Amino acid sequence: MNAPLKSGIAAADEYIERHYFSVHGMSSRFAAAVGAATMRIQSEHGIAGHFAEIGAFAGRYFIALSHALTGDEKAIGFDTFHWPSPKVKTKLEENIAKYGAPGRSIVVAADSLKLSAKDLVALAPGKKVRFFHVDGEHTPEHLSNDLALATHTLHERGVICLDDMLHAGYPTLPVTVHEFLKCEPSLRVFCVIDREDIAAQTKYMICREPMFDFYIEQLIGAFPDNVWPLGADFRYDKKALVLSPDPKLPNFDDLL
Ligand SMILES: C[S@@+](CC[C@H](N)C(=O)[O-])C[C@H]1O[C@@H](n2cnc3c(N)ncnc32)[C@H](O)[C@@H]1O
Repeated sequence: MNAPLKSGIAAADEYIERHYFSVHGMSSRFAAAVGAATMRIQSEHGIAGHFAEIGAFAGRYFIALSHALTGDEKAIGFDTFHWPSPKVKTKLEENIAKYGAPGRSIVVAADSLKLSAKDLVALAPGKKVRFFHVDGEHTPEHLSNDLALATHTLHERGVICLDDMLHAGYPTLPVTVHEFLKCEPSLRVFCVIDREDIAAQTKYMICREPMFDFYIEQLIGAFPDNVWPLGADFRYDKKALVLSPDPKLPNFDDLL
């Protein structure tokens, strides 16, 4: 396996390189590096806030991004912890103690459908969420609910990251996303993080429209060799960024 790309945060990169596959989970290493780099960029530009995740599971992605926090920022992880058994909550806590940032991690057993923005903010008052990873139940009802929760707790310059977009097993998930975005026109998908394999899938990253160019430019600077040159057409006036672990284009020069 190729060495993972670097986020630029030493603790996150060490975890992603050495321990990522010791922790059960589904997000790709590439997406972890891109997520942590996005949080590094936020810190460098004065965007402070918590990291939150719906669907923390055993902590694979949660731990990576918790290493990108600074100051009194918290990593807040929600899960029902029913699947594949209640043992997964203990496993998450053990993994945080072993590989993560226990002092800044808050683990909550909760059904996201029953969570309000007020509940979330009360867990770590004084700051909003600057990076919200939505990776819970994949029904339209859950995804719409989780997107609304993320939107209502998001820092105005923050990022919502959605897992399992364009997944062969969940082909209608993006339909729910587009329906949601129609009602929240100031939100835009600024980046598609391409999949690594069927178990480590594509993510969308979303921000408010005034931050669209900022995040694209910053991520191109961070991952210049991973930019897929054609971009993603969400029917905006400008294409969104596509970052891929393998950004190849077929070569048809022999037909010219
Ligand atoms: C695919 S796993 C998450 C993987 C993890 N985010 C990672 O990157 O490794 C999906 C998780 O969502 C959780 N989940 C499902 N429905 C939920 C709900 N209504 N509220 C909170 N978590 C939920 C499941 O228990 C499961 O642990």
